[in-house]
Amino acid sequence: MSETVLLVGGGGREHAIARALEGSDCDLYACAGNRNPGITRIAAGFETLDATNASAVTTYAEEVGATLAVVGPEAPLQAGVADALSEAGVFPFGPSAEAARIETDKAYQRRFMREHDISGCPEFETFESTEEACEYIDSSTTDLAVKPAGLTGGKGVKVIGDQVTKEEAKAYLREEEYERIVLEERFVGEEFTVQGLVANGSLRVTPAVQDHKRAYEGDEGPNTGGMGSYSDAGLELPFMTEDDYRDAVSILDETVAALGDYTGVLYGQFMLTADGVKVIEFNARFGDPEAMNTLPVMNTDFLDVLVAAREGEELPQLSFAPRATVCKYAVPEGYPVDPQGGTRIAVDEESVARAATGNAEAALFYASVDERDGGIYTTTSRAFAVVGIAESIAQAEEIAEDALSEVEEGVRIRHDIGTEDLVRSRIDHMSDLRGE
Ligand code: AMP
Ligand code: GLY
Repeated sequence: MSETVLLVGGGGREHAIARALEGSDCDLYACAGNRNPGITRIAAGFETLDATNASAVTTYAEEVGATLAVVGPEAPLQAGVADALSEAGVFPFGPSAEAARIETDKAYQRRFMREHDISGCPEFETFESTEEACEYIDSSTTDLAVKPAGLTGGKGVKVIGDQVTKEEAKAYLREEEYERIVLEERFVGEEFTVQGLVANGSLRVTPAVQDHKRAYEGDEGPNTGGMGSYSDAGLELPFMTEDDYRDAVSILDETVAALGDYTGVLYGQFMLTADGVKVIEFNARFGDPEAMNTLPVMNTDFLDVLVAAREGEELPQLSFAPRATVCKYAVPEGYPVDPQGGTRIAVDEESVARAATGNAEAALFYASVDERDGGIYTTTSRAFAVVGIAESIAQAEEIAEDALSEVEEGVRIRHDIGTEDLVRSRIDHMSDLRGE
């Protein structure tokens, strides 16, 4: 029996999910607040709706006769969209609002790690009073990461000794007046992501990816949702060993065991430190941009994963093409502080296609853009991404740059992502920290 899949969300990650399901034995429908032209082209139907409105999503799922759903972003998970779909008899690949707290409540996440003795947990304290948090900052003799407990689109964390001073961290907390705050040990090292597909107690992992959170080249500027990312032809990244990757997977294993009944993606954001692999955070969904590195090289049919999850079976083993990927996002001018949304942009799909050479591929993923009145307009979030897929990171980087060669005004790109210089500096950083 052919499946009918509803995809919730309209970003680059969701375009990558749509493409992963294209050609599988299913009809794909999608819904989101923005009309993502990449998704609408693949889907048999598309509904513009607020993806956090659980009853609107469920109504659409029923209307199209969905047999499965994939919830892309965290906000709908937090709003209980997976719960509502499940109640309506549509199997969601995505956790309940309660299970998604592993991402949506950073205080809960750290307490969960402590309670279950999960490896890689930092020293931390949680606060419900800004002034008590500020006193703790004053009394601390080491650098801290300052985190609002709730969702901030990846932009709420301030790291003392890196982005801010103690005084700036306190001023930030006083200005924002967050209700709950986590203060934790600052880790120093190289960050990487490992995404796991989880259902029925089985965990299947994907290659490590390194995202670039900071807005500007050289890792300067404010944190963003992620400006781009790369992965290597194997499971590890150039600055890590097989053991490091295995340690990250074993943390995901411990977490899946502790979570019990969890369905969806468990995304581990790790910091490789001189002292081993530590956990920066968990997310309850694919990473954006990381999904654009991972799904294009996944040989396993993603639909088979979804069906096995629903049928209560073990998930299929995953297989990946031995290809490196480099993803670069084009974001609106001013992003993330003062993004200039509503600008009409021209995306030259042909020049992206032309960047592919030999057995290297170039892919374009539309993100938070809106197609209307015959044009494509930016919103206040990331606009589109290109991904180079080749034998080495260096080649993939070249392909991504070629794909971007015709990009016009109105967007900004971090051209340093995946370059030999930046990758080399990551390797050197890790060697320095490890005293090699
Ligand atoms: P998060 O929203 O938890 O992913 O945090 C955003 C960014 O803040 C991460 O990607 C890290 O770069 C940084 N960060 C978060 N927690 C820590 C920590 N404990 N030590 C150092 N950096 C951190
Ligand atoms: N790339 C970071 C995230 O998806 O949260």
